Amino acid sequence: MTDPISSLASRRGFLGRLGLGAALFTTRGLMAEELEKSPGLVITPRMTEGPYYPDKMPLDTDNDLLIINDSITPAVGVVSYVTGRILTATGQPVRNAVVEIWQCDSNASYIHTKGHNPAGADGNFQGYGRYLTDSTGRYFFRTIKPVAYTLNGMWRAPHIHFAVSKGGQRLYTTQMMLKDFADNARDGVLSGVRDAKARESVLVDFKPVEGSKIGELTATFDIIMGLTAEEVEHGKLVGGIGKSEAGRGFGGPLGRRPGNQGGPGGGSGGPPPFPPGGTPPEGTPPPPPDSP
Ligand SMILES: [Fe+2]
Repeated sequence: MTDPISSLASRRGFLGRLGLGAALFTTRGLMAEELEKSPGLVITPRMTEGPYYPDKMPLDTDNDLLIINDSITPAVGVVSYVTGRILTATGQPVRNAVVEIWQCDSNASYIHTKGHNPAGADGNFQGYGRYLTDSTGRYFFRTIKPVAYTLNGMWRAPHIHFAVSKGGQRLYTTQMMLKDFADNARDGVLSGVRDAKARESVLVDFKPVEGSKIGELTATFDIIMGLTAEEVEHGKLVGGIGKSEAGRGFGGPLGRRPGNQGGPGGGSGGPPPFPPGGTPPEGTPPPPPDSP
């Protein structure tokens, strides 16, 4: 397992190794867009961890999900640079937070023994990664554009799972989804977010990288946690990085099991949406056969 310090080292390695990718994050357009995004904060809704947080960590847990260790064969999928900031409810950056992401591969298989599609898995996709936020609360990942899946009879619109931890303890769990995906309305997890603005806040544009000959994309997703700086630093949380939420007994005012809590202020309040100790549900029954 990679600790936050190794993640930092990985970040440097990643940014150093990927000349093009690193340059993309510093282009004028992306920065200008970032600056425009900051005011009028909408709290990112907490969304379920789902059942497919890795049950066995991959050998490589860095922030480049396209390449496992020093392999020369990348994962199959549309290359996407995903970045954003981790912020408090008032927009203060959360530095030194560990951001974890996980998602299924292009065959709709997760790094989870119960999350494999009959089509098999892309053995070159890392499926999970970590990054330690910098002084501006920023994270970076290189991954694939998420795809829809049906697993164990449940259909989901494309999404990337996010977990934010600090001091080794989970602060926040949510998902990023695609703004332009036609069937988002069918997604049970997304429609569980009741507030329209909160729902909108997790829908992200995947935009073409200018000049990319292989159709790379960039996406920006800021996670504005419904937590104050004090809660981030001193909240009583349990659990940890590399551990699923399922059955690990959240406690205390910040430690309620998170769920779909839409709406500004929809941080850690509200009733737990699923039974304590149970596996959080994810997804909806598959769409009818005529659906894409
Ligand atoms: Fe999922």
